[in-house]
Amino acid sequence: MRFLVFSASLRDDSLNTRLARLAQQVIEEKGGKVDFADMSEFDVPSYNQDEESNSGHPTGAEELCRRLLANDAFIISSPEYNGSMPGLLKNAIDWVSRFRPQPFNERHALLMSASPSMGGGNKGLWALRMPLEHLGARVFPDMFSLATAHKAFTEDGTIADATLTKRFEDNLVAFMNLVEAAKHYPCMKKAWVEFLGEYPDPAVERVE
Ligand SMILES: Cc1cc2nc3c(=O)[nH]c(=O)nc-3n(C[C@H](O)[C@H](O)[C@H](O)COP(=O)(O)O)c2cc1C
Repeated sequence: MRFLVFSASLRDDSLNTRLARLAQQVIEEKGGKVDFADMSEFDVPSYNQDEESNSGHPTGAEELCRRLLANDAFIISSPEYNGSMPGLLKNAIDWVSRFRPQPFNERHALLMSASPSMGGGNKGLWALRMPLEHLGARVFPDMFSLATAHKAFTEDGTIADATLTKRFEDNLVAFMNLVEAAKHYPCMKKAWVEFLGEYPDPAVERVE
């Protein structure tokens, strides 16, 4: 299974990049493959429909689209800015949503965040969930937010607290299992869709 993993922070000493790197380590230990990306690879100008009509998609949007399609699922570790997701992430999502086929559709996603605050940036993930689900991404119900993240890591980049480490790893393994099941076992795919409350209905056709 191949996972695109990236942090939605451009900052050199980003806490979210540390968390994303830790996710990479766990996934690789559990037998998955990781395509680790830097948010700077997906940097795009502010979305402008005129620019899209005249010049097409910017390189950063093409790159994010390509990497989404090349992997089975994606994991974003995102900062929370003012109770929401960072503008650059939403802007990148807006650009990528213009490709056809639209690459978020039916792609599995896991969301995580790290913040020095007590909330760990969790509110930003609820905001991020909304455009992703709107675009048809299968956003995993369990999210992981690392509170007081500036004090939570050890020198070698692991999470100091054993209970949180276990929760982090269990969350990743559960996600990996779901992605594998959805890819290889269509019966599981149907169960997942039903779990979301979308019962097959010819009148709606969304399942297909
Ligand atoms: C513009 C801005 C808004 C922020 N708003 C929030 C916020 O709403 N909630 C929060 O927990 N932290 C907030 N922070 C603090 C960030 O969580 C903190 O800077 C964090 O380290 C950013 O993630 P990074 O380390 O991955 O770059 C904000 C920071 C900035 C620059």
